[in-house]
Amino acid sequence: MSIKPVKTAVFPVGGQGTRFLPATKAMPKEMLPVVDKPLLQYAVDEALAAGIERLVFVTARGKGALEDYFDVARELVDSLTAKGKTAELATLEETQIEPGRMVYVRQQEPAGLGHAVWCARHVVGRDAFAVLLPDELLWNPASPALKEMHDAYMKLGGNIISVLEVPEEHTHRYGIVSPGRRDGLITEVSALVEKPARGTAPSRLAAIGRYILQPEVMDVLALGKRGAGNEIQLTDAMAEMIGNQPFHALTFTGTRFDCGDKAGHVTANIALALEREDVGPAVREWLRAQQF
Ligand code: G1P
Repeated sequence: MSIKPVKTAVFPVGGQGTRFLPATKAMPKEMLPVVDKPLLQYAVDEALAAGIERLVFVTARGKGALEDYFDVARELVDSLTAKGKTAELATLEETQIEPGRMVYVRQQEPAGLGHAVWCARHVVGRDAFAVLLPDELLWNPASPALKEMHDAYMKLGGNIISVLEVPEEHTHRYGIVSPGRRDGLITEVSALVEKPARGTAPSRLAAIGRYILQPEVMDVLALGKRGAGNEIQLTDAMAEMIGNQPFHALTFTGTRFDCGDKAGHVTANIALALEREDVGPAVREWLRAQQF
């Protein structure tokens, strides 16, 4: 059976972002900038680079700014055009997505990541799909994470998740892989456990928010079984598919910033700013002058 390219990506963006209060009191956390682009834009760019055509956002109350962001800002376009501000107009164009490619569904209760993904089931249909957690900024401009996963998927089929080795003392924060056979960056997944208790993790290979999944995961999620934190966990649903379908982990080789965490978010801003020609020199100069 030939493997079809993945065309749909789900972005769970319903979270309240309490770790970033007060900033997130009146704006979605996904709109927090890294340099000058909202966090969500990085994940969307990554999906588009992997050939994704349909973007499904699982939102919640108070997340309306996300819909406006990907829309045409007509008044702004008109006034920038009148002033001849072509560079700014080009920047705006990069954020616009063709009508019909964005779909917004609401997660009506905060019942976990698995529940958020399940909310997208009617849009996803019966094809393989991707999931991207925008909090995780996976930075590898030369070879974006989802594109690398998709290349592996076209050879292996089944399910593929992105992983990274984390320190032993952090394993309780993640979905952790129980590894099977390894072949370079690809590891067979023989089991998965969500947020294992300290000292019980089967490895240090942690899921870092990128998934290519078969639609059967929706059938498992539909059962609504609660797991860690009394939430419906995506990791638990994936774990049930192991053995019935191929399941692999691909180790990410770029730089990962956990932007769900304040320190990670600040670090991402510094690191990406340093790479930029416009702001990099000033930031570098300031850093050099500090006596750390
Ligand atoms: C979620 C997943 C977890 C994964 C993590 C990556 O957890 O449930 O398996 O390792 O994202 O960031 P959360 O950070 O939402 O608690």
